Amino acid sequence: MHEIPPELLKRLHAHSHYREVDYARLAAHYGPAFLERRLDRQMQIYDREARYRNHWLGRHVKPVYRRGLKAGLWLTGQLARARRMARSPRRIEREIFLPGLPEAFDGFRMLHLTDFHFDYTPDLAGILKEMLAEISFDVCVLTGDYRGEDFGPYEESLEALESVRPVLGDAVYAVLGNHDSLEIMLRFPDMGIHGLVNEAVWLERGGERILLAGVDDGHWYRTHDFTPLRAQMEEAAVTVLLSHSPELYREAAAAGADVMLSGHTHGGQLCLPGGIPLVAHVHDTPRAMIRGAWQWEGVQGYTSRGAGTSSIDCRLFCPGEVTVHVLRRGIARK
Ligand SMILES: [Fe+2]
Repeated sequence: MHEIPPELLKRLHAHSHYREVDYARLAAHYGPAFLERRLDRQMQIYDREARYRNHWLGRHVKPVYRRGLKAGLWLTGQLARARRMARSPRRIEREIFLPGLPEAFDGFRMLHLTDFHFDYTPDLAGILKEMLAEISFDVCVLTGDYRGEDFGPYEESLEALESVRPVLGDAVYAVLGNHDSLEIMLRFPDMGIHGLVNEAVWLERGGERILLAGVDDGHWYRTHDFTPLRAQMEEAAVTVLLSHSPELYREAAAAGADVMLSGHTHGGQLCLPGGIPLVAHVHDTPRAMIRGAWQWEGVQGYTSRGAGTSSIDCRLFCPGEVTVHVLRRGIARK
């Protein structure tokens, strides 16, 4: 039995959605040291929110900011279009060429979905269900941000994800984003979703295999850790890494990832014409990594614009996306 410090447990239990959580199970799986670090960071967000709420000005910052954004869109005649765009993710299909890819994986199709923030756009689940029913793929990977806010109840978002689950296929793997509580990892197995928090699984096909690895969020929680993955990554002919934010590109390259799939940035979400992002919420990350394909040393990266929206249910000059990455054995034709 792993004990969680009583003080931390008291802070967690102050929030009703954490009261029924089996923390001993989480500690047994992830280890008490990791769990304590992760949960302490989660509680720091609640402390920050409490500080805002207790300050007369802080209380109004977020609502005013969100209303201001919508007012700005309305004043420029873009609000209706921006709301429509938030509900019209594009389907993208692209190839990733890997010289070391085992032959059996040539043509392997990976559906990549990210940044749902379901509670901000409740109709997103229905839109995705319709869209995904038309797409064929071998495996589905989710790169985090299921909840809208980065604190508070997550039930509504999980229900939406569960409603989409039937169209995600037989094999679904997921990492967490900076908006996600670790506690949802206890719910994923019942939904037929395999969570990867600094863990990896072998994907097998035709007697051959590649590694699918996932790290915890490196943007806010900073609880990502490549150490437990290293031995398997060294052994793997090809490693596909799931990381919520592309900010871990240097560590991914050092660990030997071949492919890195991310989200987090929303591609800017509210952009200037031409999709030029104004804000992307990344630190020390090249602009090329804010959306689409990029390369860093041996890593072929891809940052999805995500399916949903954050803060407000609007997108401007930056549609969301549903992506299928098709793995190809060989070298890209120029
Ligand atoms: Fe996000």
